[in-house]
Amino acid sequence: MPATINALIAYHSDYGSTEKMAQAIADGMRASHADIHIERKQAVQTSPDDLLAADVIVFGTPVHMGGMAWQMKKLIDESASLWMENALHGKIGGVFASGSGFGSAGGGVELTMAGLHANFLEHGMVVVGFPKNALGYADGGLHWGVYARTGNHEGMPAGLSDAQLTAARSYGAHLIEVAEKLLD
Ligand SMILES: Cc1cc2nc3c(=O)[nH]c(=O)nc-3n(C[C@H](O)[C@H](O)[C@H](O)COP(=O)(O)O)c2cc1C
Repeated sequence: MPATINALIAYHSDYGSTEKMAQAIADGMRASHADIHIERKQAVQTSPDDLLAADVIVFGTPVHMGGMAWQMKKLIDESASLWMENALHGKIGGVFASGSGFGSAGGGVELTMAGLHANFLEHGMVVVGFPKNALGYADGGLHWGVYARTGNHEGMPAGLSDAQLTAARSYGAHLIEVAEKLLD
């Protein structure tokens, strides 16, 4: 088990829902490993060097028109030089997303999360999903990671429930449990 784990949670959030998920994931991480350093940043304030410094990299985005927010894609494209150098190879990745989910539970979220996975896999990272027996899975789980539907049946913002935040904390804890096994 590694003594210190360095985690980066990079996300975009316009109205605060995805940010609350990021906070809950950080809380779950902190609760499951004593010696952990967590950087939690908006994607536009995140640099490729931040990715390099992390053992565990977690990306989060709202669903925007069926895909990730451009701010996340900007960070991904800015980090392409790390792909040339295999610099993220073997790091651990996790993803989360929020969306209003108008008309369904998803509204594009699965494609959005798979898009984040694709970036991690291009870098040779180890992608960690969310197992269906984890705490909170029924309220905020997808096998891709953790998801919060934030809209009501009229498509208006309804915020995050305690159950969704529990799922996000649980995912943070799960990521660190896996990291403890994989990192030396
Ligand atoms: C430009 C824009 C496009 C959106 N497109 C979608 C969408 O395709 N599917 C969806 O479920 N929600 C969509 N939403 C809703 C947001 O994903 C949702 O409100 C999210 O929880 C906002 O996160 P935030 O509070 O972190 O900004 C969109 C919101 C905006 C502003």
